Amino acid sequence: MDNGYVLAIDQGTTGSTVLVFNQAGAVCGRASAEITQYYPQPGWVEHDPQELWSVTLDVVGEALEQANARPGEVRAIGITNQRETSLLWDRRSSLPVARAVVWQDRRTARLCDELKQEGLEPLWQEKTGLLIDPYFSATKVYWLLDQVSDLRSRAAAGEIAFGTIDSWLVWKLTGGQCHVTDYSNASRTLLFNIHELDWDEDILARLDIPRAVLPAVKPSSHVYGETDPQAFFGHRVPIAGIAGDQQAALFGQTCYRPGMAKTTYGTGSFLLMNTGRSPVASRQRLLTTIAWGIDDEPVEYALEGSIFITGAALQWLRDGLGLIANAAESEELALSLQSNDDVYFVPALTGLGSPHWDAYARGMIIGLTRGCTKAHLARAALESIAYQTRDVVDAMSRESGIDLRELRADGGAVANHFLMQFQADILGVPVEVPSITETTAQGAAYLAGLAVGFWSSREELAARWQLAQRYEPQMEKKQRDFLHGRWERAVNRCRGWAEE
Ligand code: G3P
Repeated sequence: MDNGYVLAIDQGTTGSTVLVFNQAGAVCGRASAEITQYYPQPGWVEHDPQELWSVTLDVVGEALEQANARPGEVRAIGITNQRETSLLWDRRSSLPVARAVVWQDRRTARLCDELKQEGLEPLWQEKTGLLIDPYFSATKVYWLLDQVSDLRSRAAAGEIAFGTIDSWLVWKLTGGQCHVTDYSNASRTLLFNIHELDWDEDILARLDIPRAVLPAVKPSSHVYGETDPQAFFGHRVPIAGIAGDQQAALFGQTCYRPGMAKTTYGTGSFLLMNTGRSPVASRQRLLTTIAWGIDDEPVEYALEGSIFITGAALQWLRDGLGLIANAAESEELALSLQSNDDVYFVPALTGLGSPHWDAYARGMIIGLTRGCTKAHLARAALESIAYQTRDVVDAMSRESGIDLRELRADGGAVANHFLMQFQADILGVPVEVPSITETTAQGAAYLAGLAVGFWSSREELAARWQLAQRYEPQMEKKQRDFLHGRWERAVNRCRGWAEE
């Protein structure tokens, strides 16, 4: 019997991926394409919103074709997205006013300093669960509203819309009918009060952001509207799931009980621990964030450690330095060495996120000697991914008082056995890789499928989670702590560099 499909759109930092799931939860079609990165000035990162939309739609078409599925057989669409990346568009023409300012962009670092000097951070952290950092949307929106004269007044008059990428895609898919986001994305803007579940008047006032520019905030599993046939292959399909990509991955990994945690290795890495219905305030400079909201249920929260550059360090070795042809080569190179020979690479290419929060830190390679080769750089890049993850896990254990028992991992880098083993070694806990590693798209599909009754319950979904590989720690504690200690020394040396 043909019960149709759920389509998951994952619009990420480096590209768009679309997966087509059948009712058994199997992936029937998959397509992806990269998007252009713009670096107009050091520390700036931009995306072209029109390109994001057109590439995404092309990839949807390809994925459906691959699945041999007709658009009319799609029962629901789930959207997941790179978070925090912000754009403004004209509601009438649907044209963006400028390129989107990407989450990695540091252009608002000075403004963030000013806000911190005003002493606003403790209060804003209490309200939003976040810290004052250029990473989040708030200061990007402030900056964008300043770019064109009279934009603020046009925004106040309701002519301009703000959105993270989810809002933009829903706007385009519905032909401008829906201006929405979900709780998980809203909770990354630094404009949203995660306790009251509403945009925060005080923060909006301080940043002179008119409420009229903001989208409606809805649960993550919810029918927001239908596609406009003119935008979506002649069909009306419910859009029924939205979540920021990291929260979607937590959902896809079926971490539904408090204490369960996952990390996703993408451009950066994001480790989230479900904390249930109560937001856990952080004293360790982690983020308190909304995991998701399901229709008619209270929202659930997570603690998050955000690491800005992990997979992107390998991408930089490939594209920036031309040292490796592909990410897979890094594994071969790393394994060609017995040890790291005391070479460390701190990939603070866009500053440092959790738990350091240093917008002025910059990348550094230390410990080079005449005997060093590209193998050392490849190994140091891979090891840096694992050390940064340990920094976050340590902070999370201090915060929650709970020692992690195992870590569920997903994303592209789980294919790298050297990294997964080293990760387990450096953490001293097992790392578990599931059979479907594209858990971000899976989470978006699950949220959408639940909203339209394509799947019945979270229990049904959790029962499907399957372990593909478990990496047991093999390193002595003494060695693990020694390596991590050297890493910490390296990190301390690159802090504040761009501020001097
Ligand atoms: O917070 C940024 C994050 O959502 C980006 O994820 O997978 O696109 O690197 P990714």
